Amino acid sequence: MNVSSACQLTAVCYSSRHGEQWRTFRSKVQRPILQPQTVKKYVAPIETVTVDFIRYMEDVRDEKGDLPMDFDNDIHKWSLECIGRVALDVRLGCLSRGLGKESEPQRIIDAAKYALRNVAVLELKAPYWRYFPTPLWTRYVNNMNFFVELCSRYIDEAFERLKTKKVTSENELSLLERVLRSEGDKKIATIMALDLILVGIDTISMAVCSILYQAATRPEHQEQVAAEIRRVVPDPDQPLTYADLDQLHYTKAFVREVFRMYSTVIGNGRTLQEDDVICGYHIPKGVQVVFPTIVTGNMEQFVSDPDVFKPERWLQDCGRLHSFASLPYGFGARICLGRRFADLEIQVLLAKLLRRYRLEYHYEPLQYAVTFMYAPDGPLRLRMVPR
Ligand code: HEM
Repeated sequence: MNVSSACQLTAVCYSSRHGEQWRTFRSKVQRPILQPQTVKKYVAPIETVTVDFIRYMEDVRDEKGDLPMDFDNDIHKWSLECIGRVALDVRLGCLSRGLGKESEPQRIIDAAKYALRNVAVLELKAPYWRYFPTPLWTRYVNNMNFFVELCSRYIDEAFERLKTKKVTSENELSLLERVLRSEGDKKIATIMALDLILVGIDTISMAVCSILYQAATRPEHQEQVAAEIRRVVPDPDQPLTYADLDQLHYTKAFVREVFRMYSTVIGNGRTLQEDDVICGYHIPKGVQVVFPTIVTGNMEQFVSDPDVFKPERWLQDCGRLHSFASLPYGFGARICLGRRFADLEIQVLLAKLLRRYRLEYHYEPLQYAVTFMYAPDGPLRLRMVPR
C-alpha cells in the first residue's frame, strides 16, 4: 500500500467526515454494529481477552500487589486486543509478555499511540501539511499505511473464509463477516475497522483509567459493586452471559456516575448547517456549537447535589437529573458508534476483576487533566488485593 492509497482510505475514514459522505457510510455499518444481537456474540470473546488481561496484571504487579507506573499503557493493550477481536476477528497478541521491539503486536501498539497523539496536532495546529507534505504528515501517513495493511490482511482472510462458510442464519456471522456479506466490499469493511480501532482505543482506555481509579478511591462504592457482582456471579470461574451483565444494575449506575462527574469526552461539537436560534441567541450557519457535557453533568440546575458521588441517582428518584445533563457518548445521529461495545468491555472488565480482587490506591491523589481526553493524570499505581 503506498502513501496515496492510505490517503484515500484515511480521507474517507468516516468519523472525521461530515455531511453526505459521513451519512452514506454510517448507514452501511450502523445496523450491524449497534444491534444488541451483535454485541451479545462478543461477551465470550471479550471475556477471554479480559481473563488474559487479568493474568497479565497478576504477572506485572509487584510483591505488594501494586501495578506498574505505566499501567495506563497496559490498559491500552487490553483495549487494542478487544477491538482487534471485534473489528478484525483476530487476537492481535498485544497482551503477550516480552514483546520484541519489532514484533507485530508491539508495532501495532506503537502505531496506535502515534496516530492518537498526532491526529490532534494535525487537525488543530496550522495545517501546513495541506500545502506540502511536512515530516509529521509523512510519518502520520506511513503510520496509517501500516494500519491499512494490517486491516486489509485480516479482512482478506475473513473474505476468503466467508466464501466457504456454511451459514444458516445471520446470527452465525461475526460483525466483520456481516458487513462483508451485506456490502460485498472489502473497502467498507476496512474503513469500519480503521474507524473502530482509531476512535475506539483511546476513549475506552481513558474511560477505564478513570473508572478503576474511582473504584479504588471510593472503597464503599466499590464494595457495593463487588457485592452485586458476587451475587450475580457466585462462582468466579463461571463464564459470563449477557443475562448476567443485564443484572449488574448498581455496577452500571456506578459507571454512569463516573461519566457524569468526570466525562471522558468533555463535550460534542456540531457545525450548524443553517442559521438557528438556541436559547434566544441567534447563531449563524457555519458556527461550531459545543455541548459541554462535563459542565452540564455537574450543574446544580440539572442535577441535585452534583458534587456528591451517588450511583443510586441512576436507579431511583434522588431529585433532579435532567436526561440531557450527562451525555458521555454524545447524542443524535452521530452518537458514539461503539457505545454498546464500550459498555460491554467495561462491564466485563469490572465483573471479572472485582469478582476476584479489591482495588486500592496508596499514592498521592491524582488530578484530572484535559489532555486529549479527561482522565486522571499521573501514574495509575492501583493495588490488587485478592478477595
Ligand atoms: C467509554 C468509551 C467511549 C466514549 C466515552 C465514547 C464517546 C464518544 C463520543 C462523545 C462521540 C461523539 C458523539 C457525538 O458527536 O454525538 C463518539 C463517536 C464515535 N465513537 Fe465513541 N466513545 C467510546 C468508545 C468507543 C469505542 C470502544 C468505539 C469503537 C468500538 C467507538 C467508536 C466511535 C465512532 C466510530 C465514533 C464516530 C461516530 C460518527 O461520527 O458517526 N467509541 N464516541
